[in-house]
Amino acid sequence: MSKNIKRILVTGAVGQIGSELTLALRKRYGAENVVATGRKTAPSKELAESGPFYYIDVTKRASLDVVIRRHEIDTVFHMAAILSAVGEKNPQMCWDVNMNGTINVLEAARDYEMARVIIPSSIAAFGPETPRDNTPQETVLKPRTMYGVTKVAGELLTDYYVRRFGVDARGLRYPGIISAETLPGGGTTDYAVEIYYKAVEQGSYKCFVRADTALPMMYMPDCIKATMDLAEADQSKLRHYSDFNVGAMSFTAGELAANIAGHVPGFTCTYEPDFRQKIADSWPTSLDDSAARQEWGWAPAWDLDAMTVDMLAKLRARHEKGELYKGAAAE
Ligand code: SER
Repeated sequence: MSKNIKRILVTGAVGQIGSELTLALRKRYGAENVVATGRKTAPSKELAESGPFYYIDVTKRASLDVVIRRHEIDTVFHMAAILSAVGEKNPQMCWDVNMNGTINVLEAARDYEMARVIIPSSIAAFGPETPRDNTPQETVLKPRTMYGVTKVAGELLTDYYVRRFGVDARGLRYPGIISAETLPGGGTTDYAVEIYYKAVEQGSYKCFVRADTALPMMYMPDCIKATMDLAEADQSKLRHYSDFNVGAMSFTAGELAANIAGHVPGFTCTYEPDFRQKIADSWPTSLDDSAARQEWGWAPAWDLDAMTVDMLAKLRARHEKGELYKGAAAE
């Protein structure tokens, strides 16, 4: 039987998912029981003031251990990672952070007999030989990016620790995640976030993939729910551990732009593909997530139109407060 989650460490807590996940975990498990950590970037005021925060380096085991011991951590949500686009610019750093970070977290979980570790994977685990539409749970995993290589290796390593050492580790293959709070840090799916910022700020966007590029995407509230539900799932019902496909919506960049134009009169989008086009072309367009649905009850709540309405409302409010320009991605 799984042990209860009591005291949590979040790595990558200043990142796109980590920042919102930390706040959601603090609500659920108590603020003082959720320790946020980042590497360099300063946390938001809300993150810093709502509970403990430390700077750590996940590639150094000792750096993790200080916080784990001090707070008697029994669960890690390991969100720290280098994403696909940055990973292609610096593959060695991507390997170092993603692989050494992952094995350090798994080793810590083994040494301290932790209740749970969550190690995320991604649609980047797939490659051009994978069936692209309704991509099966069990399929070819031959990614062409270093990020994808680390995600496949991370899945294998995580499953190995489950079977070999009895660590209760789990993970899901995130699609592109869209949110209005913290910008993603250098992924291929970032256009689907930036487009909303630019729609609100300037009414136009120059997209770095073609209009017909279709990828699986998910709105942040569904991402948080999926992550927390998987963490709390009954382990005896799981047949998979580290590699759950989770789908929510799929659309092309052109469909996304048209949807936004329906809510932002006069919005225009132009397309100038760069090196990220090739990465996008090697990933699925949609996912078969029946294993996640069956094993832990996954069901998404947000579709494209509902997400657009919510994203625009949130970003307009931030824009009015003068918050957006400092937070927006450079073109
Ligand atoms: N959003 C990620 C990326 O684009 C995929 O997991 O790199």
